[in-house]
Amino acid sequence: MLGCNEEVYILEARIGTIKEILFEKSLICFDLERMDNSSAKDIANHLAADGDRFKELKAFDDSKAGVKGLVDAGAKSLPKIFIRPPEELLEELNLGRSQAEFPVIDLSGIQSGHDQRKSVVDTLRRASEEWGFFQVANHGIPAKLLNGIVHGTCKFHELDAELKEKYYSRDLSRIVRYSSNIDLYQSNVATWRDTLTINLMTTYQVEPDELPEVCKNAVMDYMDHVTKLGETLFELLSEALGLKLDDLNAMECAKARNFVLHYYPACPEPDKTLGTRRHTDPSFLTILLQDQIGGLQVLRDNLWIDVPPVPGSLVVNIGDLLQIVSNDKFKSAEHRVLANRIGPRISIACFFSGVIAPPKIYSPIKELVSEECPALYKEFQVGEYLKSFYSNSLDKSRLQKLKI
Ligand code: OGA
Ligand code: NI
Repeated sequence: MLGCNEEVYILEARIGTIKEILFEKSLICFDLERMDNSSAKDIANHLAADGDRFKELKAFDDSKAGVKGLVDAGAKSLPKIFIRPPEELLEELNLGRSQAEFPVIDLSGIQSGHDQRKSVVDTLRRASEEWGFFQVANHGIPAKLLNGIVHGTCKFHELDAELKEKYYSRDLSRIVRYSSNIDLYQSNVATWRDTLTINLMTTYQVEPDELPEVCKNAVMDYMDHVTKLGETLFELLSEALGLKLDDLNAMECAKARNFVLHYYPACPEPDKTLGTRRHTDPSFLTILLQDQIGGLQVLRDNLWIDVPPVPGSLVVNIGDLLQIVSNDKFKSAEHRVLANRIGPRISIACFFSGVIAPPKIYSPIKELVSEECPALYKEFQVGEYLKSFYSNSLDKSRLQKLKI
């Protein structure tokens, strides 16, 4: 194995074939199958342009201990790779903050007769059109399971580094994978978050024994319940779009799922970094469980609005893919997570991503397209869409590329 200086030297000296050097010689482990070539080249160029930063990123990645490892080592200030550039901090000043009421939808009414169900569907439609984000209460997942998965997530991330290390990987095809900053090498600044991922995107299931022992039961139980809730929400969303109850499930929107179990450690200088940079989700729908700490914000009319933690409820948001197939009727809103002096903060997201493998193709739903309201997006394959997601910084929008 080469020393870090040599790696950087090679990087700088051979910019023309940088992609091979970076990826094929495994200086950085990337999954080229799941990246697009031009983005890989861009990443390589931008890493090569700042050798010192590349070294820092790589040392952090090689530690396999994530942000939690920095905190355990007693970090009192932020390493440079986490500090947001001044222009980004300045931009913050142009975006206000607001305490606007966040929509809460009580799902207990959906079994109680036509009128009550209709009222839930109407509220859901408004929230999906105007916000793209809402909370659901009385969703049927027992509080005990919610607490169980939050504790299980915490226990995994608080395992000794030696025990977590074997899960650390950037290989996107792995079913169980732990890493810090999914876009560590793609972005211009790192964020204060570690993640355990359970990837049910192509195999659709996981053997319990593949999961870390400390959270195995909690993860299996939660995944099961949240998948069913996802299917229920797709029924309600179908109705909200004026379609038949089954339409979104028949499109297999809930088939591929990615579960991410996030751990945001207490941050010594929260004003200089973020927990998660602004982004929209590359899913049809996301169901998120957050603990009581807070920090999640949604961007609405250029104002950041707090998504307040409500015990027992779940946050739901429309992802890019549902914005596309609904032909812009529903909105995939930008959101982010602030870093916090208090922590850890735990959150668990389930992304519902449809069917990834070709030949499955998605496009704006024909019932939602007419002469007055023509299709706004081209056909697409989810796999191609995700390729672009994984090849870029989280904050880079991908919707525009599919606009007609
Ligand atoms: C995400 C996300 C928010 C949170 O994983 O895409 O937006 O609260 N997470 O962790
Ligand atoms: Ni998100």
